[in-house]
Amino acid sequence: MEDFGCQMNKNDAELVVGRLRDDGFIRCESIDEADVILYYACSVREHAEERIFGRLGALKRLKAEKPDTVIGVMGCMAQNQKEIIFKRAPHVDLVVGTQRFEDVAEFVRELEHKDRVIAIDGGEVSYQRDITQRPVQHQAFVTIMRGCDKFCTFCIVPFTQGRERSRDPQSIEDEVRALIDDGVQQVTLLGQRVNTYGLDLNRGENLARLLDRLGKLKGLKRLQFITSHPTHIDEELMRVIRDNPVHSRYLHLPVQTGSDRILKRMNRGHNVESYRRTIDMIRRVVPDMSMATDWIVGSPGETDEDFAESVQLLRDIEFQTSFVFKYSVRSGTKAARSLPDDVPTEKKKERNQILLAEQEAMSKRLHQARIGEEHEILVEGISKRDATRWFGRTSQNWIVVFRAERDFTGEFVKVRIVDVTALTLFGELV
Ligand code: SAH
Ligand code: SF4
Ligand code: F3S
Repeated sequence: MEDFGCQMNKNDAELVVGRLRDDGFIRCESIDEADVILYYACSVREHAEERIFGRLGALKRLKAEKPDTVIGVMGCMAQNQKEIIFKRAPHVDLVVGTQRFEDVAEFVRELEHKDRVIAIDGGEVSYQRDITQRPVQHQAFVTIMRGCDKFCTFCIVPFTQGRERSRDPQSIEDEVRALIDDGVQQVTLLGQRVNTYGLDLNRGENLARLLDRLGKLKGLKRLQFITSHPTHIDEELMRVIRDNPVHSRYLHLPVQTGSDRILKRMNRGHNVESYRRTIDMIRRVVPDMSMATDWIVGSPGETDEDFAESVQLLRDIEFQTSFVFKYSVRSGTKAARSLPDDVPTEKKKERNQILLAEQEAMSKRLHQARIGEEHEILVEGISKRDATRWFGRTSQNWIVVFRAERDFTGEFVKVRIVDVTALTLFGELV
């Protein structure tokens, strides 16, 4: 099993691995040993899907030599491409969409007497998982809702993940409590539009109430959530965050573009002015909130003037982090039907570079202002570049690298910031 895509996809892939393990399957690391090869794959941009088709292509020979090997595609890409996967990669046996992944073991068994299985519709998945099986010991992700009802015109997610469905708050609390009991210190709540959590339950539940409830659980050290949409961010939510230090001072709030004209075409439901007002409110209530965002460059009809407005917005808001994506047509979306992909690839690349450079300069400037400050960090492990150093994150999600005599992984330590780059802060233990 190999997974791609967003954190929600990764979490679902973990859930599938758990189901297979319950059924007696054993996870192996190399493809040559495997009897079942599964890709849990993403559809959000064309590049993501092409990468998987590339991997599948490379398995053709293996399948010819060992015809009993099961090759499957799961998740958003299965949902989106359905039979097309069999057409483009005829050696694939199994295609399982986002509503049916829990039954994967059964589908693998069906393949003993069938050539192919495709399972897309007609199911619903639970959130049941074996919490002891997680990649990192001291932190965990918890899915609190599925689907998205926003239908931004460029986006495939509402089609791959279906309607918005919130999970029952008690079941979320039970899972978080079990994770804490098992040694987890930091929990990240997951949803595609996590700040509309609870609204579909029609009983007064919302994200603010959920955070308040989970924030009170004994033993939890840090709680955060991704990803939010710029509408439905209110003062109640910010006050809950302000009033309890367990809540991360980090908000990922994708704006996509600084142009009102493009925002309208995207059906984002907000304009630049309302986004600015939301940020003002957030910073008034929680002054040390660190902001991250997503941008799409080269959207249909995006002119140099539209793009200049994105650059201006990045500077004005002073984002800490930007994730920049080149527009990619997704067949089935409204944009694919009605908005021609008219920005040349070279232009997209150029705007991508410009925005990344702007962000780098901004991050460095914001980081420089941290020199001399003391911050509490949760230590995540040993630095990849330098085995004598460790790294962790502040509540604002800033990465801090520091030297230490022993392994502090999973612990909170206090550091003083002494040096910075655009990506990293360097600290000394206090
Ligand atoms: N639910 C999240 C976004 C999920 S997709 C949210 O609304 O914030 C993650 C990011 O991928 C989006 O924020 C957007 O910036 C980007 N993205 C989505 N569809 C895209 C497309 N067709 N082309 C390029 N980028 C896209
Ligand atoms: Fe896609 Fe928009 Fe939903 Fe985010 S809010 S998942 S961008 S449709
Ligand atoms: Fe990709 Fe599906 Fe996530 S399309 S971004 S894996 S919800």
